[in-house]
Amino acid sequence: MKKIRIAVQKSGRLNEDSMRILKEIGIAIDNGKDQLKASARNFPLEVFYLRNGDIPQYLRDGVVDVAIIGENVLIEKGSDLQFVERLGFSKCKVSIAVPKSSKANSLKDLAGKRIATSYPNTVQKYLQQNAIDANLHTISGSVEIAPSIGLADGICDIVSSGSTLFKNGLKEIEVLFESEAVLAVSPLISEEMSTILEKIQFRIKAVLKGRNSKYILLNAPNDKLSEIISVLPGMKSPTVLPLAKNGWSSVHSVIDKGQFWEIIDELKASGAEGILVCPIENMVI
Ligand code: PRP
Repeated sequence: MKKIRIAVQKSGRLNEDSMRILKEIGIAIDNGKDQLKASARNFPLEVFYLRNGDIPQYLRDGVVDVAIIGENVLIEKGSDLQFVERLGFSKCKVSIAVPKSSKANSLKDLAGKRIATSYPNTVQKYLQQNAIDANLHTISGSVEIAPSIGLADGICDIVSSGSTLFKNGLKEIEVLFESEAVLAVSPLISEEMSTILEKIQFRIKAVLKGRNSKYILLNAPNDKLSEIISVLPGMKSPTVLPLAKNGWSSVHSVIDKGQFWEIIDELKASGAEGILVCPIENMVI
């Protein structure tokens, strides 16, 4: 059987999370050290470990069928390419920053100034959209050092925790966009590989939904059940089972992780007791 070829970052911030999501969707890869290519044991899939910036071209040429890649790289080097899933990890911003002491406080203050970046296409397009003319200096790494060595007045780079900006005495003045890892697809993908891709997408959706949800169990006096049930959405509706103790029930449901504490507070106020919350591995809807 033919295998779908997936590109993942060889090393760097996306690598670990990319391999984790493949594992979580049940794809087992024997990952020999320094291997540039590996096959899955239990799924028709082959992983290519590639440099981030090269991945868009491999997709374009159909050398790989799909790729886990940062949206920031896709926007910079593969704006012609499509992605089919947002993967919810490697979240960052692509931002413009200047030295803390700079008088510049917004993008327009950088008109006529020098901006150092590893994202020249992204910055150029953004400047054009905002009708601002600035001089770009393209460098491939350690961008944040550029202002302090006199190379630029501002920089544009990815910001994740913000610690690199902080350590280099820089302040963020403009966020171009927010980014996360995505599953991008080659325009040349065959029908056969698209069918395998659908299976992968189905599993990824289940994992991501599970990550964003919690399973909740609680005990409730029967006279408080309707109030408690109104707080709990559940997948269809909550499960209610009688307890051995008369007049009490056990209620089971699934809640959104983002609303977790609000829901717990409301449940307690409504008379729920013995609340247990468990992680969900997968959620197939
Ligand atoms: C990126 C980016 C910044 C830093 C921002 O570098 O170039 O320098 O992360 O992250 P922070 O806000 O959490 O400090 P990365 O470490 O990915 O390596 P790179 O130099 O290869 O881009």
